[in-house]
Amino acid sequence: MTSILKDGAFNCRVSTVLNKDVKQFGKKHLFDDNDETCWNSDQGLPQWIALDLQKEETVSAFHIQFQGGFVGHDCHLEAGLENGSLEIIEQFYPEDINSLQVFKLRKPICAKHLRFVFNGSTDFFAPRFIYCAKHSLSLDYILSHLISVHTAKSDFLKLHQAVAPQNVFRAAGGKPGLSMDQITAQVMVFFIGGFETTSVTISFCLYELAKNVNIQKCVMTEIDRILEEYGGEITYDGVKEMKFLDQVVSETLRKYPPVAFLSRKCTKDYTIPDTDLVVEKGIQVVIPVLGLHRDPKYFPDPEKFDPERFNDEAKRSRPHYVYLPFGEGQRICIGA
Ligand code: HEM
Repeated sequence: MTSILKDGAFNCRVSTVLNKDVKQFGKKHLFDDNDETCWNSDQGLPQWIALDLQKEETVSAFHIQFQGGFVGHDCHLEAGLENGSLEIIEQFYPEDINSLQVFKLRKPICAKHLRFVFNGSTDFFAPRFIYCAKHSLSLDYILSHLISVHTAKSDFLKLHQAVAPQNVFRAAGGKPGLSMDQITAQVMVFFIGGFETTSVTISFCLYELAKNVNIQKCVMTEIDRILEEYGGEITYDGVKEMKFLDQVVSETLRKYPPVAFLSRKCTKDYTIPDTDLVVEKGIQVVIPVLGLHRDPKYFPDPEKFDPERFNDEAKRSRPHYVYLPFGEGQRICIGA
């Protein structure tokens, strides 16, 4: 038995992220070389994976594995010959699980083009599709193909210098490197850490601006002034100059920190200076960010929304570590 995909003699396109507004969302080449691949998925179209083989092949089964959240039980396979259009061959009904699922076709087909369509699917947690048109299974190859395509691009996996196909598989064998699960976990951190935090902050900021009309007017005046200086264009440099806006966002993050507490596990016994209190190895330490941000000792009248708490002088007058919306130290938010 041989795998059609074994020698890399195929071209793959995915719709795993459906929003085609690449200007807005940037990172267009997350998966492959196709403009249709992008970060965000919100168009509600079915996702699909298209495989263009180098020559017509006989396909008798395929294997699919999902990673991350997936919804899409009503799926079908389309196939076509060299110049023919794609036709629906069979429905298939995968389960919303992460283990490998095998689908045997009712009868083998001859095809050059295949399209796996996942109707009603969403990809909130950036599922990875690992697929094998069968004769036989070459899972490692497919995985390494996906990863090598990823790492060839300038996407965020590049941040993990350790991510090279061989490292991924060494990791699976217990040696250093990132495993697929670890990479998937990173993807999830990006979605949850990067999206929810920002959207919640914007919501609370607008809520406070709606309640505090004077502050709203000040922000608008500043924005209008700086936009005019930059010819009406929103630019990185221009936004950096919006100091009062920065204060407003900082005050929003004080009053409503999206990450309300930080948690760490103590790795060795530690005596708190000038006390006989010992934090023992293994203890879970919780840092109450919300509590600090609303402590009247550091932020008098803490319920009041007051961006002046973040002018230069006020910031200098407080201990640094009482304001922790993005955490601190080595694990500080990369979006900070
Ligand atoms: C208002 C927006 C944001 C807030 C309030 C926020 C908050 C935080 C906090 C408090 C941490 C540290 C957690 C800890 O120490 O245990 C963190 C970590 C992280 N954040 Fe954010 N975040 C924001 C935006 C973003 C964005 C836009 C991204 C991605 C582009 C992002 C990606 C991450 C990642 C990857 C980590 C883990 C860093 C590490 O463990 O080394 N965050 N974030």
